Amino acid sequence: MKLLAGPASTEIAYKISRIMRADLIEVEHRFFPDRENYIRVKEAVKGEDIVIIQGMHPPQDTHAIQTFFLIDTLIDLGANSVELVSPYLAYTRQDKRFLDGEAISFITLLKILKNLGLRKTYTVNIHCPWLIPESPIPIIDLRGEKPLAAYIQRYNFSNPIVVSVGKKGLDMAKMVAEYLGVMYTAAQSERDKVTGSVRVELDGIPGIEAIIVDDIISTGGTMVELIKLLKKRGFQKIYVTCIHALLVGDAVEKIFSAGADRIIASDTIPNKFAEYSVAGIISEELKKRYG
Ligand code: R5P
Repeated sequence: MKLLAGPASTEIAYKISRIMRADLIEVEHRFFPDRENYIRVKEAVKGEDIVIIQGMHPPQDTHAIQTFFLIDTLIDLGANSVELVSPYLAYTRQDKRFLDGEAISFITLLKILKNLGLRKTYTVNIHCPWLIPESPIPIIDLRGEKPLAAYIQRYNFSNPIVVSVGKKGLDMAKMVAEYLGVMYTAAQSERDKVTGSVRVELDGIPGIEAIIVDDIISTGGTMVELIKLLKKRGFQKIYVTCIHALLVGDAVEKIFSAGADRIIASDTIPNKFAEYSVAGIISEELKKRYG
């Protein structure tokens, strides 16, 4: 098996290749003057099993089309098989028709990947795990809670509560809290389908230190509401953690102004808050498959 570093995820691709001691094929990428993508696979791949490492974080459409070009080119060049590690998969939040007539973008994306000849996708904390059984290609959803919990121990909390939002969040909070040996809870949230604004409610919980966990921080709206509630309840130290830090627009400013002490994210998306790595869990999974 050979790894291939897609233009969106070169850093994590290097980490995975170092952990696995696997060959890493580099790709030449640039933009044409009109911003169309130029892609060139720089090594022979005939007969090889190739695993592309390429996230689909913003700019999602650019990274998605680079992924399409890579899969199609590798197959055209005679690769034996092509699999994709997309640490962050795009369009997973448009996983159903919330309003009549909407495109179910995630399913469309998966259909394209399948039609190009992709064999399997690996990702981390997919936003819509309930869609995995219906996916046209197999999806392996790896969980980033363990590397997050292992990392956060260095911050010397005395008796924190792990707080999250929603049913999926409760599951995430439970995994992190059990690893740390502390209590956990989850707030209920409701998002307006048209405006996207979020309302958060949390039953009374006592505490001074909170570790908020969520799979994605996008606009920061959910985090801000939760931080405000925790502040009202007297929490003094609030760490905001997530797997995927999209941090759109002024999300960072909003989160710190609401009272967060720190933002901690994984390296699924390259950004300055990416403090812990999911390269280990990805490598473990690939080793199971490829030895
Ligand atoms: C919701 O299901 C997710 O877990 C996140 O809470 C949500 O995607 C965050 O979005 P935003 O940062 O825009 O509130």
